[in-house]
Amino acid sequence: MEDHKRRNFLKLGLIGAVVGAIQPLKAGGLFTQSFETKIDGPLVVSTWNHGLAANSAAWEILSKGGKALDAVEKGVRVTEADVTNRSVGIGGMPDRDGHVTLDACIMDEESRCGAVGFLEGIDHPISVARAIMEKTQHVMLVGSGAKKFALEQGFGQIKTPIPPVKEEYKKWKKENQDLFKKPEINHENHDTIGLLALDIHGNLSGACTTSGWAYKLHGRLGDSPIIGAGLFVDNEIGAACATGLGEAIIRIAGSHTVVELMRHGHSPMDACRLAVERIISKHKDLTNLQCGFLAIDKNGNVGAYSVYNGFNYALKTNKEEKLVDAPFNRSW
Ligand code: GLY
Repeated sequence: MEDHKRRNFLKLGLIGAVVGAIQPLKAGGLFTQSFETKIDGPLVVSTWNHGLAANSAAWEILSKGGKALDAVEKGVRVTEADVTNRSVGIGGMPDRDGHVTLDACIMDEESRCGAVGFLEGIDHPISVARAIMEKTQHVMLVGSGAKKFALEQGFGQIKTPIPPVKEEYKKWKKENQDLFKKPEINHENHDTIGLLALDIHGNLSGACTTSGWAYKLHGRLGDSPIIGAGLFVDNEIGAACATGLGEAIIRIAGSHTVVELMRHGHSPMDACRLAVERIISKHKDLTNLQCGFLAIDKNGNVGAYSVYNGFNYALKTNKEEKLVDAPFNRSW
């Protein structure tokens, strides 16, 4: 064997021996101990105050020892069905051509995931995302293909925009003859719902669903249907979801970044803060650039952080149920 090849071979041999030595330690508990679940019950958190109702629905499953995956789906379906909600599901705002297009994704403790984007006229995008995860070999379906799949699976059809939203759209269109005027994220509009759950078995899952940026360009996808941007779950570490300007969240693979920061030892709060700071560092103009992250770790610790003030999240455990204002980097 030539000398340099032999040296490389020996190096690899040494790495193999070290990895081999780590495995028994892992099996013996040294590594698993640091990720041990210490919660004394399940936990659910979700973005914004619409999260309170979603958490209650998720809790019906979690409190009976059910699975986090079932809980996250059931939770956000409540928000999707709320006709008064203008940023999620049936009551969502349209794009600038008048179409309500819905985005959603779901991820479970086995790193299985499903996503749907640019879906029109179907009542529960989160359940379509779950069906894609469970019944196809794919992760994501979009547009007419996603709709065809949903109809084949027996999902209900809806007519959108619903009448009050149609009225609002007509008014907006009249007042915005220049349709390519930069649309603004309305931070009062409460945006996406991202919901994360830790079940009694110590397993994590997450769900994220939205109608996206009101008056967006037809065909636009935000962060919410993108695994790693709007949502990410790693059952060994934690889970994170995002809300706000999807374009900025996609640029830093936001939710994945938060989970990776937790993997490297940061608390959920610090991980969310560091991800927000990364977004800030990548943008010269922060006008209207609101983004927030929400995260839980495997031990049931919770954290959140946003660019601007105003972001809050709902939390429910065996002991408490509340809305929490997230810390932020700057004020409006
Ligand atoms: N975060 C939702 C969106 O940008 O579509």
